[in-house]
Amino acid sequence: MKVLLVGSGGREHALAWKLSQADELTELHAAPGNPGIAGLGSCHPVRAEDGEGLLALARALDIDLVVVGPEAPLVAGVADELRHAGIPVFGPSAAAARIEGSKQFAKDVMRAAGVPTAETLAVARPPCVLKADGLAAGKGVFVCRNQPELDTGLRSVSAYGNAVVIEELLEGEEVSVFALCDGMRAVALPSAQDFKRVGDGDTGPNTGGMGSYSPVAVDAEDIIDVVHRPVLAELAARGAPFIGTLYAGLMLTDEGPKVLEFNCRFGDPETQSILPRIDGDLLGALAASASGDLGDANLAFADGAAVTVVLAAGEYPERGDTGSAIDGIADAEAAGALVFHAGTALHGDRLVTNGGRILDVTARGEHVADAREQAYRACELISFEGMRYRRDIALERGIRAVP
Ligand code: AMP
Ligand code: GLY
Repeated sequence: MKVLLVGSGGREHALAWKLSQADELTELHAAPGNPGIAGLGSCHPVRAEDGEGLLALARALDIDLVVVGPEAPLVAGVADELRHAGIPVFGPSAAAARIEGSKQFAKDVMRAAGVPTAETLAVARPPCVLKADGLAAGKGVFVCRNQPELDTGLRSVSAYGNAVVIEELLEGEEVSVFALCDGMRAVALPSAQDFKRVGDGDTGPNTGGMGSYSPVAVDAEDIIDVVHRPVLAELAARGAPFIGTLYAGLMLTDEGPKVLEFNCRFGDPETQSILPRIDGDLLGALAASASGDLGDANLAFADGAAVTVVLAAGEYPERGDTGSAIDGIADAEAAGALVFHAGTALHGDRLVTNGGRILDVTARGEHVADAREQAYRACELISFEGMRYRRDIALERGIRAVP
C-alpha cells in the first residue's frame, strides 16, 4: 500500500514512524513532511492546505491511502477534494470537521446528541471560559477565574475577530479519548493526557501541548459509548458521517466526564505517546476506516506506558525560533528514546530549529514513572539555544497517579 501522509509536525512524524513498520506498506510519502519524516519516506514540497497540489501528487504517485494529520486542511475540505477524485482518505469531510472548526456547531451537535458538556452562558461573568469560534491552534481559549482574568480574556479573545462562546468553568482532571471512526463505528485508541499550559504546575498561557502520557486511568470504552458514538450518529444523521480520528477533550468532573472540545484528528502531542503503545495493525485500521468498514480492525494495545516531553523554543507560545542548531538527538535515541521532529529544518546538513514546539521526546517503560524517568534523561542529552520544557510531565497527581 502506498501512503501519503499530510502534515509536518511531531504527530505526523509519529504516524510516519508507526506506519513505516506495517508489512503492507510499500511506499511512504509525506507532504510537506519534515526532516524526521524524511528519514522514513519521501517528502514532497506541497503544503498541507493545498488540496489541488495534494490531489495532483496523490495521482502522480498512485497513492492508495491519504492520511491527513492537521485540522486546518480538513476544515478547509482537502479530504473532500481527494475523496471526490476517488482517493481513499483517512480524515473527515469539511462538513464533519466542523465538530472542531466551529465551537458553536460542536455545542449544537452535543446538545442534539445528549452528550455531557459545559453549559453555554449568555453573559461573561467570572468564573467562566471564553472561546473564540473557529480554529486557533489551541490558543483561543481563556479561562477566567476572576475579574482581572476576564478583562484580559475579553481583550485577547476579541483579537480573533470571531464569535465568542462563553462557557461554565469546569474543574477536574483532563483526559483525551480518541476513536478511529469509519462514519458509523468507533474503535478506541489508548487514552492519554496532555499538558496544555506552558509552565510547570499548569501555569502560564495555553499552548498546543507541552507533553503527554498514556495510559490514563479511565475506561475509554465507557466514554466512547456516551460521547463518541452519539456524536457519530448525530453527524451521520445530518449527512456528515465522520471518517477519521474523533478526539474528545474531556474534563472528569464530580458529575462525570464532560466534553471541553472535539478535534477532528489525532492529538499532538498525545499521538506521540499513544502510537508506541499500539501493537496491532494501525495502517490496516486507518485503511479500513477510510473505506467505511472498521468491522474487523485489529488494534491490540501494548502493556506498559509511554511519556512524551515537548522541547520548545525559549519564547513559545508567544513566538517560535528559527535557525538555532540542534544537538544530541542521536545520543537521546541511543539512550532508548524516540525523538520526533515537530519544528525543525535543515540548513545544509545541519538540523536547526524551525517553529514553536521543536522536538518531542518519547520514552516507553513498564510504568508511567519509568517511562517518565527515561524521557527526561533523554531530554537532558538534547540542546538548542533557548530550549525550554516542563519538568512535571506525567508527574503523579490526581488521575496522573497511574500505576
Ligand atoms: P479547548 O481548546 O476547548 O480544549 O480548550 C483548551 C483548554 O482550555 C482545555 O484543555 C482546558 O484546559 C481549558 N478549558 C476549556 N474549556 C474549559 C471549561 N469549560 N472549563 C475549564 N477549562 C476549560
Ligand atoms: N493536544 C492538543 C491538541 O492536539 O489539540
